[in-house]
Amino acid sequence: MCGIVGYVGEKEKKEILLDGLQELEYRGYDSAGIAIIENQQLQHFKAIGKLQNLRDKTKSYESEGFGVSIGHTRWATHGKPTELNAHPHLGEYSFVVHNGIIENYQELKTELQAKGVTFLSQTDTETIVHLFENYYQQNSNSFEAFTRTIEKLDGAYATLLVTEADPDTIYFAKNGSPMLIGFEGKDVYFASSDTPIIGKATEVYYLEDGEYGYAKDGEVTLFDANGEKSFSKKALATDKAMAQKDGYRFFMEKEIYEQTQVMNDTMMGRVLDDRVEFEELSGDLFKNINAIKICACGTSYHSALAGAYLLERIAKIPCHVEIASEFRYKEPLLRDDTLFITISQSGETADTLEALKMAKRAGLKSLSICNVDNSSIVRESDKAILTRAGIEKGVASTKAFATQTMVLWMLTLYVAQRKETINKERLQEELDAMRHTPKTLLVSDKLHERLHRLSKRYLHGHGFFFIGRDLFFPLALEGALKLKEISYLHAEGYPAGEMKHGPIALADSELFTVALMPKTLHYDKIKSNVEELSARDATILAISPEPFELADDFVQTTHDEHPMLEFFEMMVVTQLLALEVSIRLGNDVDMPRNLAKSVTVE
Ligand code: M6R
Repeated sequence: MCGIVGYVGEKEKKEILLDGLQELEYRGYDSAGIAIIENQQLQHFKAIGKLQNLRDKTKSYESEGFGVSIGHTRWATHGKPTELNAHPHLGEYSFVVHNGIIENYQELKTELQAKGVTFLSQTDTETIVHLFENYYQQNSNSFEAFTRTIEKLDGAYATLLVTEADPDTIYFAKNGSPMLIGFEGKDVYFASSDTPIIGKATEVYYLEDGEYGYAKDGEVTLFDANGEKSFSKKALATDKAMAQKDGYRFFMEKEIYEQTQVMNDTMMGRVLDDRVEFEELSGDLFKNINAIKICACGTSYHSALAGAYLLERIAKIPCHVEIASEFRYKEPLLRDDTLFITISQSGETADTLEALKMAKRAGLKSLSICNVDNSSIVRESDKAILTRAGIEKGVASTKAFATQTMVLWMLTLYVAQRKETINKERLQEELDAMRHTPKTLLVSDKLHERLHRLSKRYLHGHGFFFIGRDLFFPLALEGALKLKEISYLHAEGYPAGEMKHGPIALADSELFTVALMPKTLHYDKIKSNVEELSARDATILAISPEPFELADDFVQTTHDEHPMLEFFEMMVVTQLLALEVSIRLGNDVDMPRNLAKSVTVE
């Protein structure tokens, strides 16, 4: 995920920026850049790949005396990882770095282009710097130009801007993406999280949404919608390891909370007002395609299963899902009217990669859904859709699963539009529900506290069954996988209707059943399956918008109107349950025993 650093002061700036960016490396990035103004002169450097490449490029440069400087690491979301798309973005005499999404960038870009502005990158960020210079031309007041620029932006952003028009000032604004200001004497630092400034600054101010202003002469002037405001600094933490987790106890916890934000990135530029668009898919990928086969492992396999329900139901295309390690050795019959889709967070999973190679040898067209650009699976596929979840560090996958499932839902609508299996009204309903998803993924303190309290009752027993029907069966599989990975308790996911064909023999008070009971999909059916288990004294944890009197424990979800919204809300509940059980058991949540984040061996 992208990272920002900035510094105003007398110290050597290049090293401050590069060190700061180094501290943000753990977030993942594919290009980096810095811009410095001193002695009224702008200098900038950009490089793709590792920070070392940027270090090499700046070897002979050293900054001296007072100046302003900004830096950025970019994780490609909109536009490929190239030098042109790397930040800082240049206007004619100003530079900008930005995290987040400018939702109305296309509209702003079109207006600026009509005025003769040339854009060099494919990013939304570049709009900010051109907008600023456009306003500056009107009355040569850089603060006013910056304020007017910020007023025009819709969406989430944390941004820093420097300009030769005002060479001793850094302009900043925050709305929806994190940004903080560090202080030490006359030195002022900016960063998107604590780590780059720990050891440099001693005090910090965490900007609130809607705040903006400038740093000049060692002073920060802050504004919000009501005008200039005062602010109080706090002592800055000194523990870098803790700071990398943004204050969360574990990366997995941080990643669960991040889901609301990354979902916006996943949809950005793809979920449009009246349709879904993937600029990465050319027109002929679906030509002569009559079926889809999806291959994946683990969590990615579970998202594939959920996707298959959607693809068959809405896009009316036969869709078959296989575990990659099984597929490889079963001598599968492959037909060239089948699109072969692989799903992988890492893009390096050996079994999935081999399955893809087999399909290619058989002449099938291929598409990968992946979180890592330029990974082996992406490179091997004809086409790729990036999930844009940002780096995932917890071994137990959370936000990767959420974004994979979202991409499959979007792909479903994309195919349905092409095959005309969806009418306008239904399409609009689906798009509305998609846009609502980030809200559904918000973790409230109340929900987290509830799962924390409940978790103490689920630390023993002879096993867990997660049960669900339809779309909620893959979610049950995923809920069980999460729990077993990090708690080491036995857990199985099962289709609720299948329990009576065998597993119900295990039912007693020590069998914990986590029942996914959405209101929008087969509620009465799942209810009677849970009643059967309750009658055999199984301990029931029901997750549902509808109170269920036979439940021993109950987590109430929202009365959403769309099954996918219920899906994502229940997904968060199962993730938090696994997290809290694991923490209570004293396990290493982020690095569970025997598991690796990327499984590159067979
Ligand atoms: O990188 P991939 O998505 O291809 O990885 C597949 C599985 O190894 C992965 O999902 C694994 O099951 C996770 N530990 C799940 O939390």
